[in-house]
Amino acid sequence: MLVKWSPEYAVGVPEIDRQHQELFSKINDLLEACNRGEGKQVLGEVLSFLENYVKVHFGTEEKLMIAQAYPEYSPHRGEHKEFIENFLRLKEKFETDGPGIWLVVQTNRVVVDWLINHITKTDTKLGAYLRAKQNA
Ligand SMILES: [Fe+2]
Repeated sequence: MLVKWSPEYAVGVPEIDRQHQELFSKINDLLEACNRGEGKQVLGEVLSFLENYVKVHFGTEEKLMIAQAYPEYSPHRGEHKEFIENFLRLKEKFETDGPGIWLVVQTNRVVVDWLINHITKTDTKLGAYLRAKQNA
């Protein structure tokens, strides 16, 4: 099962929304690679690719938060850090256990569920703040 970006996930800041869509697409690449039964090397590359993109994306949001003096920077950044930790744990498990159905299950739990929850709550709040600032 793949994840689909939908307009309800839009936070109203074009740069962030574009990156979120790209993030969904990279998660789909991972799920599809799992479905195709790709080997450890390919899956390892897809995981690293996703990790890099996540870091770039969090960096973009955090820069915007700092630039616009976002009062909830610290807890928001904390959520990002927690995600990276969980993601790295998943990657470590992959390094030791190799591919398997568990990877799809964990990707859905650790990555997809987290992301949708984070976008619809935490990023949506940030988006509203940034838009208000823009119009001020
Ligand atoms: Fe965020």
